[in-house]
Amino acid sequence: MKSLDWKNDSEYMAIVGDLLEKKEVQKLDNYTQHHNGTRLDHCISVSYESYLLAKKHNLDAVSTARAGLLHDLFYYDWRTTKFTLGSHAFIHPRVALRNAEKLTVLNDKEKDIILKHMWGATIARPKYFESSIVSFVDDEQAITEYFDHVRKEFKMKLMKYKEKVIKFI
Ligand SMILES: [Fe+2]
Ligand SMILES: [Fe+2]
Repeated sequence: MKSLDWKNDSEYMAIVGDLLEKKEVQKLDNYTQHHNGTRLDHCISVSYESYLLAKKHNLDAVSTARAGLLHDLFYYDWRTTKFTLGSHAFIHPRVALRNAEKLTVLNDKEKDIILKHMWGATIARPKYFESSIVSFVDDEQAITEYFDHVRKEFKMKLMKYKEKVIKFI
């Protein structure tokens, strides 16, 4: 993905700084999200990109930034952990909401943003524009992160192939 300069955005940092310092959020750095990058990278990208969009459209940028950061606050590998109660798409927003509520007080909009971010894969429709923004940005990030991974794999294969050809020549 294109690198967003969130660290140098003092207005954004003033909104999410307290959350970024929490060990429960830092822990997301130990989990791979979409092949490429950690869950923490993913959450920050979704949060910051959604925040910029919300700000541009005069929406609630604060709730968007904070809930965007917490939307995937869960601690398991979704590729290997399976649930009997429902799909990962259905379960993890609920787990993330429960974990987020232990970290900070959430308003209704923030709860909706976290709970509905899998809209499309799950039926419940977002109640707020801000929830739709995070849901769309999350999809876009997942696709970008996946194709970044595919592109890197392809490049590596191509380089190995070139090496073989050079040796042969
Ligand atoms: Fe998610
Ligand atoms: Fe996500």
